[in-house]
Parts: sequence; structure tokens; C-alpha cells
Amino acid sequence: MKLQMLWMTLILIIVVEANAAIQGKNVTIPALIVFGDSIMDTGNNNNLPTLLKCNFPPYGKDFPGGFATGRFSDGRNPSDLIAEKLGLAKTLPAYMNRNLKPQDLLKGVTFASGGTGYDPLTAKIMSVISVWDQLIYFKEYISKIKRSFGEERAKYILENSFYLVVSSSNDLAHTYSARSLRYTRTSYANFLADSAVTFVRELHKLGARKIGVFSAVPVGCVPLQRTAFGGILTRGCVKPLNNMAKQFNSRLSPALDSLDKELDGVILYIDVYDSLFDMIQHPKKYGFEVADRGCCGRGSLAISFMCNSLNPFTCRNSSAYIFWDSYHPTERAYQVIVDKLLDKYLSKVY
Ligand SMILES: *[C@@H]1O[C@H](CO)[C@@H](O)[C@H](O)[C@H]1NC(C)=O
Ligand SMILES: *[C@@H]1O[C@H](CO)[C@@H](O)[C@H](O)[C@H]1NC(C)=O
Repeated sequence: MKLQMLWMTLILIIVVEANAAIQGKNVTIPALIVFGDSIMDTGNNNNLPTLLKCNFPPYGKDFPGGFATGRFSDGRNPSDLIAEKLGLAKTLPAYMNRNLKPQDLLKGVTFASGGTGYDPLTAKIMSVISVWDQLIYFKEYISKIKRSFGEERAKYILENSFYLVVSSSNDLAHTYSARSLRYTRTSYANFLADSAVTFVRELHKLGARKIGVFSAVPVGCVPLQRTAFGGILTRGCVKPLNNMAKQFNSRLSPALDSLDKELDGVILYIDVYDSLFDMIQHPKKYGFEVADRGCCGRGSLAISFMCNSLNPFTCRNSSAYIFWDSYHPTERAYQVIVDKLLDKYLSKVY
């Protein structure tokens, strides 16, 4: 009996090792599972009754095949680029894509929805999927995997996948004005950071064990904010907004560190603020020519439906721009950030 067990274990080990060797890449992370906003949305808004979508040209002009997929960029976004880094796939499917087959779920999906935030009011204003509702879809995702591939497989994916949470820009840039009677800038930033921590706890309760949360970005430096609030001639970064982002980060970072000690698994605070800010301040250092305007349209206001094929001003070479539209980075800018981050953080989750 014992010998039989030993043989079975041995055979199992050989099979697993052989699989790893065949794939020639890390099999420790079977899937990438993403929650958040337009930075990570690969098409979830396409079927929603919202104005915030971009499944039309010139969006996607640098995507393989030149297709507009619903990604808020000229090409792929960090959901895709990180899935690629993990050796999973070149693109990460949007969970709401109606054509997905059970097989397409196995290497992960993104639940991210452009325009959303940690504040439930943000998703409500924009008619998109709140991060909290994304957790409900995540539960559905797990039960679909159980149904098609069994309990064991589902458990393996649940426990070993890498989870990413990327939100806060829309809360800070748009919803705060609707919340300003109830919150100061500082207390709103703190409320958002505390919400992010609650989100991670919920995700952990559902079984996630390797979770990374992006910091807020210098959202006061996106072209749209410069145009609206950065001064007519100067178009500088909007300091109060950047300060709110920094406040969010200074609350979130230590909270996630202590969560990392408290819970089993790995909880990472992923700082993107400094990398992106440096890139915007010193674009040439990174091979970019333009940092304060987007490529699409005239680049100072255009976003979503304002940036379409009727707009004749879209730039030729998006690689020279940090921003694609007045709010979202180009694929090339995303790639620079992802390359930088992944070296630093991914080693901690293997
Ligand atoms: C696999 O993981 C190792 C760390 O264990 C890392 O150095 C390597 O870059 C990873 N490979 C891929 C393809 O991600
Ligand atoms: C596009 O811009 C990048 C960055 O400035 C530059 O390296 C590249 O050569 C440009 N491509 C074309 C076709 O002009």
C-alpha cells in the first residue's frame, strides 16, 4: 500500500516536472486575475450602457491587427503586458467578452471596467462595474472553472494565481468633487485607501494568496487635468490632485505592509507614482517626445467618444507620446513602467 502511494507520488512529480519543462516557463503562476479601471480593462465596457468605451478607431491602432478591442489605449495595456511577462499569454481576455469559452478562462481574465473606482459612487456616475461587483463576477468565474475543470483545478488556480488591483484615479479626479461636502481631500484619500484594504481582505477571504495593489498615479499630470485645471497657458500638473494621490499612497503602503504580515500569502504595494512622474517630468530620458498632450485628437481634451476616427488630428507615431488620449498612457509608456516594476516586484510572488 505504502509503496503504491510512493509510486503514485513519484509519477505525479514526473508529470508535473515534465509539464513545466515542456512549457519552458514558470508554471508556479497559472493565471493573472485583474480588478480595476480603464488602465486594466481589455473590453469589459463594450457591452455596457455607458459612454465610457473605446471599441472604435483610432483606439487599437497599434494593437495586433489594428483592432479596437475596448482597450483604452493605442495597443495593449498592463493587463496584457503583465500576462505576457508571466509567460501566460500575449493578451488577457475581458471577463465580459461573450465569446469566451471555458478553456479561455484558465490563464486568467480581467474584470476591470473603465471609469470605475473604489468609491461605489464612481461606478454609479459612470454606469460601469464597481470593483465590488467585480468581486461577484470573480466568484462566478471560480464556479465556472469548478464546473468545467473540477474542484482541484479551481483550487489550484485560486491559490496560485497572481491578483492585481488597479484603481483610484477616477475617484480622485472625478468623484471627489461630488463628495467634497462630506470629505476633505485628505479624508477622502484615506477613505479610498481604507477601501482598497477592505477589497484586499475580501479577495483574500475568497482564496487569493498573491495580491498586488497599484499605488495611485500622478493623476494631476494627465493632459485632461492640465487643460482643465493646470492654467490656460502653463498647463502644469494639478498639485492638489497629485497631493491627494500621494496621501492615498502614504496611507495604503503601510496598511498593505501590515496586512502582508497578518495574512498568509503575499500582499504587495506596487508603487507606480514615482516611475510615472519621473517619466512625465523627463520624457526624453525614456525616448518620448511629448508628455503633456495625448496622441489622439488634439490631445488636450479628447477621450473615449471624443477621440474617434472623425477626429483628424491623431498623431502618426504614438510611441513618441507618453499619453495616448488625454487620460491614458500609450502601450509604449505602459511597457516602460511594466518592465521597471516587474523586475522589482514579481520575484516576490514566485
Ligand atoms: C520565472 O521565474 C523566475 C524566478 O523564479 C524568474 O527569474 C524568471 O524571469 C521567470 N520567467 C518568466 C518567463 O517569467
Ligand atoms: C516614433 O517615435 C519613437 C520615439 O521618439 C522613435 O524612436 C521612432 O523612431 C519613431 N518612429 C517613426 C516611424 O518615426
